[in-house]
Amino acid sequence: MADDYLGKKMADYRTRQEASARKPAATLERLLLRNRSYRGYDPSYTVREDQLRRIIAVNTRIPSARNRQALRFRPVLSDEAPKLLAAIRLGGALPELHLPLPGTEPNAFIIVCSTLPEDRWIDMDVGISAQSMLLQAVEIGLNGICIGAFDRERVRREFALEWEPLLVVAIGRGAERIVLTEIGAGDDRAYYRRDGVHYVPKIRLEELIVK
Ligand SMILES: Cc1cc2nc3c(=O)[nH]c(=O)nc-3n(C[C@H](O)[C@H](O)[C@H](O)COP(=O)(O)O)c2cc1C
Repeated sequence: MADDYLGKKMADYRTRQEASARKPAATLERLLLRNRSYRGYDPSYTVREDQLRRIIAVNTRIPSARNRQALRFRPVLSDEAPKLLAAIRLGGALPELHLPLPGTEPNAFIIVCSTLPEDRWIDMDVGISAQSMLLQAVEIGLNGICIGAFDRERVRREFALEWEPLLVVAIGRGAERIVLTEIGAGDDRAYYRRDGVHYVPKIRLEELIVK
């Protein structure tokens, strides 16, 4: 057992060494770490149209089940943001905090719609799209969050959308301290806040791998 443990540690170490020698992999690791879900944003920073366009552009480079590419993207800038803010819910696991705190609301969004009825393949496409867009946001110095808890009917009506909205992605300059913690598969996975820091538990690698 002990040998096996050491062997695994050595292999992990070698993989990390090799990864840090190859720049792109190291960059992805940094982007992934910075790509946290922010529920509070710097109000003095206004996201621009060209930034949302650059973020949406990743969708011309990503996979899609049967390459259907049914997703469409409605950028929302600060002038329309209040309409969307009224229809979303952030931090459902911390209801007592009423996030976002007043004055830290995001001022830009991307509404992800589907031209086809929602099914499991469309939902997978939405996930791939959202994470790709968030990574692009982080690369250009912004942050964001996926928002599944929103009033679909209201958003469709308010933005006169031809297609059903499936996910909202908020974009902004994050203004929170977020720290990942390592947990076991049986531990509590709920995120929490302590002394102004937002903690996000993540299951350790060894327990993610099925033997
Ligand atoms: C598909 C999806 C939908 C989500 N919807 C919401 C939401 O409606 N409100 C919210 O506050 N967070 C939402 N989140 C963010 C998760 O709570 C967040 O990913 C999780 O707490 C882990 O934090 P991390 O993204 O920083 O790793 C959503 C995330 C995903 C992937």
